[in-house]
Amino acid sequence: MTRFETISSLRQNIASLQPEKTIGFVPTMGALHEGHLTLIKAARQENDIVISSIFVNPVQFNNPDDLARYPRTLEEDSQQLEAAGCDLVFAPSVAEMYPESPALRLNFGELETVLEGAFRPGHFNGVGIVVSKLFNIVQPHRAYFGQKDLQQVAVIRRLIRDLSFPIELIRCPTVREADGLAMSSRNRNLTPIEREQAPALFQALTLARELIHQGHSPAQAKAAVTDMFSSHPNFRLEYVEIVNADTLQIANEILAPGQTAICLAAHLGKVRLIDNLVF
Ligand code: PAJ
Repeated sequence: MTRFETISSLRQNIASLQPEKTIGFVPTMGALHEGHLTLIKAARQENDIVISSIFVNPVQFNNPDDLARYPRTLEEDSQQLEAAGCDLVFAPSVAEMYPESPALRLNFGELETVLEGAFRPGHFNGVGIVVSKLFNIVQPHRAYFGQKDLQQVAVIRRLIRDLSFPIELIRCPTVREADGLAMSSRNRNLTPIEREQAPALFQALTLARELIHQGHSPAQAKAAVTDMFSSHPNFRLEYVEIVNADTLQIANEILAPGQTAICLAAHLGKVRLIDNLVF
């Protein structure tokens, strides 16, 4: 596996590939875990060349502490990528990606008004800018994103359509720890006690899904989740919503199979965690 730090060196290498080779691309912010690696493995199965990027994108962080605390483990990440079958990795500096701070602003309309968009103003602008830049640099045939960040998948779907990127978007299932906690780079920042409590997020999602399967309304399922966290000293629930899994707009009734999602975000100590289930 070869590592590139500049846009021009990566571009040169990609230009030297045989034109008929297909490229699968997995953008990441590093601190890799099995969730990221399953995206690499999916890309490995479906493409001739697998390219990943590791870049902690400052433009998508709306909280400076979160950016400062974000784990950075480039050497371990590179080893894991190589073992998972990645061919090229792009790990640029902030100055390489943003010689000056971008003047462009992306607004995803309705999609931004709910969930992560509502609670992290400017976040999807930053995601849209960095992913557009990476798509232009790498020019992949397929790009792999995790369901863990369901709203991000919807944002990228719009980005691809609105800007006519000739890229197939692949959504891969959420990878979880044995106790149900969705894998996340931010889990490393949990204290041992918080780590023991963190599976409550997944338990809340499963409870809500169960209630809905029993015939309760989305409002009743939401209330049950809110109740569950209101008595918990360490969690601060930010939102829980039942939504259309493609548009992320609030769903007042249950849609066709695979079309409804329950999404939540909560603070556990200093760490903000998100999770969702599609059903
Ligand atoms: P990051 O949080 O590093 O995630 C990179 C990719 O891994 C995303 O597509 C994310 O959804 C996926 N992922 C994370 N945890 C996962 C899990 N437990 N199961 C399955 N997939 C998982 O998302 C970003 O970085 C950034 O916003 C990025 C797209 C790279 C733009 O900066």
